[in-house]
Amino acid sequence: MHESQIAAFLDSAAKAAKIIKETVEEDGLIHVFSHLDADGVAAAGIIGRALTRLDARFRVRITQWIEEKILEVLADKPDLIVFSDLGSGYVNLLKEKLGEFKIVILDHHQIRGETTDSFVHVNPHLHGIDGARDISGAGVAYFAARAIDRMNVDLAPMAVVGALGDLQDKYDQRMLGGLNEKIVEDGVKAGLLNVEKDLVFFGRETRPIHRTLASTTHPFIPGISGEEDKSLAFLANLDIKTRTDDKWRALRDLSDDEKKRLCSALADYLLSRGLRLEVANLIGYVYVLSREEPWTPLRDAREFGVLLNAAGRMDRSSLGVAVCMGDRGSAFEEVSKVLEEYRRSINKYLGWVMEKPERMRELENIYVVYGEDYIDDKIVGAISSILSSGLPNPEKPLIAFANVVEQGIAKISARTVDAVVARGVNLGDIMQASAEQCGGKGGGHNVAAGAQVPLDRIDEFIGVVNELVGKQLKG
Ligand code: C5P
Ligand code: ZN
Repeated sequence: MHESQIAAFLDSAAKAAKIIKETVEEDGLIHVFSHLDADGVAAAGIIGRALTRLDARFRVRITQWIEEKILEVLADKPDLIVFSDLGSGYVNLLKEKLGEFKIVILDHHQIRGETTDSFVHVNPHLHGIDGARDISGAGVAYFAARAIDRMNVDLAPMAVVGALGDLQDKYDQRMLGGLNEKIVEDGVKAGLLNVEKDLVFFGRETRPIHRTLASTTHPFIPGISGEEDKSLAFLANLDIKTRTDDKWRALRDLSDDEKKRLCSALADYLLSRGLRLEVANLIGYVYVLSREEPWTPLRDAREFGVLLNAAGRMDRSSLGVAVCMGDRGSAFEEVSKVLEEYRRSINKYLGWVMEKPERMRELENIYVVYGEDYIDDKIVGAISSILSSGLPNPEKPLIAFANVVEQGIAKISARTVDAVVARGVNLGDIMQASAEQCGGKGGGHNVAAGAQVPLDRIDEFIGVVNELVGKQLKG
C-alpha cells in the first residue's frame, strides 16, 4: 500500500462526502442501502450517524443482496442513493436500473463492470488496495464520514467492529493492517479505543472463562475445545477460580498473573501434543472500546461484531444500526436478546448438519453443506464460516446452501482459508462464473463469497464450482 494509493483512495472518499453534503444542503432525500452482515450494519450506522449530524433527510435499508425488487422501492425518487458494503459487484445492474439517479458506492467487494460519471465509486480495489483484508465496508463508510466532518472520527471504533466482523484481522497475531490500521490509530487518538495484546479467545467480556476456553476453535485445543468439564478441570488445576461469590468470571476478570499462568499452561499443553503452530495463536491483538460498559458485548470489538451479525441475520438489523448510531437503551436491550436467539439457532443448525453424513458431503475439490429447506438463508453464511474453520481437509473450500423457496432460489455461501487463496483460488470469481453459468448471480471476496441461483439448478451449480476450484488449484 503506497502513500499515493492511499491519497487517491481518500480523494475518492472526499468526492463522496462532497456529493452527500451538497445533497443535504439542497434538502435532498437520501436512501442508504447497506449489507446485512456485521460490516454492513456497522457501515449503515456510520453513515446514519454522519447524516443525523448533518440533519439530513434519509432512510436506511439493510439487505442481503441487490435485486430488482429492491430497486423498485425507489419510487419515492430519492435525490441520492448511497450503497455501503455492497454495490461494487452490481455496477452494470445499477447502471441499467438506476441510470437516472445520483449514486455513491462505498464498498470493498471485488468490482464487476465499469462505472459511469454519474457514479461516485469509492472502493480500495480501484486503487490497488486489498479490500479483503485492508479495509472493510464500514471502513470505507468511515473515511467518507470523516471527510464529511472531522467530528466523525468518533465513529472509528464502529469501523473497527466492521472490519473484525468481516474477519479482516489477517495480519500477524490477528492484527488489523492496511487502512484498517489507520482507523485504529484514529480511534486510539480519540481516546475511544485501546489495543492490547492478550489471550485472544472469543468472549473475553461476557463469557465465563471455562466456556470461553471450551468454545475456542481458533486456536483449536484438542481435549479442551468443545469440552466444558475438561476446561473446568484445567482451570482448577492452575488454581484459577471460575467464580466469584455472585458471578462467573470472564477472561477480562483474570489478573495478569492468572493470565500468564493460563497462557503458559496452554502453551505447554499444545506443545506436548506437537501443536507448535497453535501456540502462536494463543496471543493476539484485542480491540477494546474503552468507553463502553465492561461485561457487555459492546466492549470487545469482536463480540460487538457478532452482536451486529446476529441483528442482521435474525431480521432485526434496524436494532443493530440503532446501536451503532449510539443507542444504549431499548435497542441495546432488545438486540442482546436477539444475540441469544442467534446463538441458539446456530447451535441448532450445526447440530443438524452433524447429525447425518449426507448433510455435509465431500466432493473431489470442495465440501458441500446441504442446508436445503432447513437452514435459514440469512444464517447459512455464518454456518459456512464456522464449519470451514474445522474441516478434516482444510485445503478444500466449503460451500453451504439454503433454499429461499418463495423466490425459487438457493442462497450459497462459500468460504476457504488463506492458504488456499495463496494457491490461486478466488471464490469471488468462482461464485460469479458458476452462478452466471447457472442463471444466477454471485461474487464477493477471494476467501468468502456468495451466490444466488435458481433452485432447480443447484446440482449443476455445485458441479461447476467443484470443477472450477479444481482448475484454479491446478493453475
Ligand atoms: O452471503 P455471504 O456471507 O456468504 O457472502 C460472502 C461475501 O460475498 C459477502 O461479502 C457478500 O457481500 C458477497 N456476495 C456478493 N455477491 C453475491 C453474494 C455474496 O458479492 N451474490
Ligand atoms: Zn464487508
